[in-house]
Amino acid sequence: MIKSTLLKATEAGARELQRFFNGEFKVSNKEGMNNLVTEADHAAEKAIIDVIKEDYPSHFILSEEAGEIKMDSEYKWIIDPIDGTVNFANGIPICCVSIGLEHNGKVVMGAVYNPLMNEFYFAQKGFGASLNDKKISVSNKTELVKCCMVTGFPYSYLDMPNGPLEVFEKFIRKGVPVRRLGSAAIDLCWVAAGRFDAFFEHSLNAWDSAAGFLMVKEAGGKVTDMEGNPYSPYQKKIVASNGKVHDELLAVINGGSI
Ligand code: IPD
Ligand code: CA
Ligand code: CA
Repeated sequence: MIKSTLLKATEAGARELQRFFNGEFKVSNKEGMNNLVTEADHAAEKAIIDVIKEDYPSHFILSEEAGEIKMDSEYKWIIDPIDGTVNFANGIPICCVSIGLEHNGKVVMGAVYNPLMNEFYFAQKGFGASLNDKKISVSNKTELVKCCMVTGFPYSYLDMPNGPLEVFEKFIRKGVPVRRLGSAAIDLCWVAAGRFDAFFEHSLNAWDSAAGFLMVKEAGGKVTDMEGNPYSPYQKKIVASNGKVHDELLAVINGGSI
């Protein structure tokens, strides 16, 4: 069954995170100043892809470090072997394996596993979202000023109107808490679990968000781009929330005041 392959692949990747965490490993730089890739990213990616290829050799794979393994298939696995690599490289236990599974262009399953905090999130389209097998749902807050939010910043700063720092600054000036955990997949899962009321980020890749965005939707939340259009993991900009503060949040992101 495809679900068991997803779980097996996620666990195989997570074993590599655990094996290398706080130990010795090679770190190199990708484009940008501090855009790192470690030996653990490569080891986790290999472990994940080996599991998928063993069970489904004809499926399409898109993985952050390996790129595309193109196949003519209805299924596509979208993999981030470590989301939160900078955290991982610094011994900060906020990082995870994130895998989304697309069927005919729609994400139908997602798994996000942070073995360092023992948190395994899973979602299936139409069947809800869970944390360690217990159902989760988004928060109930209705006023943006009372929300606790999270965001992320790209490796190279985006100088644009209503850019990452401008939006961040607006909330901070009003005393609204906005955290920056350093793992978009975990940010999304924590919105799904009701810990955060909302998340926004200006430049993500499909592997950062494919699993996490399904998690939020299946937990009863809303996910769009920054114009309010339905989200697809191939869009850079994302706004995810409990649904109740979504319109207000979009208005602030697009230049309104809080
Ligand atoms: C990054 C993290 C971070 C987000 C960046 C991503 P990586 O992924 O998700 O939270 O702000 O935009 O690139 O490099 O750790 O896989
Ligand atoms: Ca990532
Ligand atoms: Ca990564």
